[in-house]
Amino acid sequence: MPNNTMKSLPRPLLIGLMGCGKSSIGRRLAKRLDMPLIDLDERIVEQAGSSIPDIFAQFGEAYFSDMESRILHDIIDQQAIIATGGGVILRAANRKLLKSHPPVIWLKAAPEFLAGRIAGDSNRPLIANQDALQKLTALAIERYPLYESCADLIIARDDMNKDDITTLIIDFLGKTA
Ligand code: S3P
Repeated sequence: MPNNTMKSLPRPLLIGLMGCGKSSIGRRLAKRLDMPLIDLDERIVEQAGSSIPDIFAQFGEAYFSDMESRILHDIIDQQAIIATGGGVILRAANRKLLKSHPPVIWLKAAPEFLAGRIAGDSNRPLIANQDALQKLTALAIERYPLYESCADLIIARDDMNKDDITTLIIDFLGKTA
């Protein structure tokens, strides 16, 4: 696709459970579409001046979610690819914002696939000191319907590599432009 066509493509927003590759696929999309990437978790860490585990430990999950909602609201209209944190779909107000910003891409992955990627990751407080597979299975039961309700495109992520997923998303953007 020529570069000027790329520029006019809609800006994808990525959702999905932790470990599904939102940030890394977001970086690939940013490079290929020549657009900036806004990574919501990174913005939260920058603004708080603390790591995600520290924010959870000092102020709690609700405080983290308040920051996430506020920053999502502030950046949603920017000309950028947006990679969200896995819990962004939990709040109705966030889901409303996501639905008003197509295309939303859900990188759908099985808990078994995700657990293999993130077990033991100390930067993810929700799975720290617990069985990652058990926790991710519980999160999938709670969150799959919420991701689905926001998604314009669902990608079965576990069967594909990141470059192929990036190409699939770009093809989809071309069709919706
Ligand atoms: C969370 C996912 C994390 C981060 C925070 C909460 C969640 O982001 O926002 O730890 O509730 O699923 P990633 O999905 O990028 O790991």
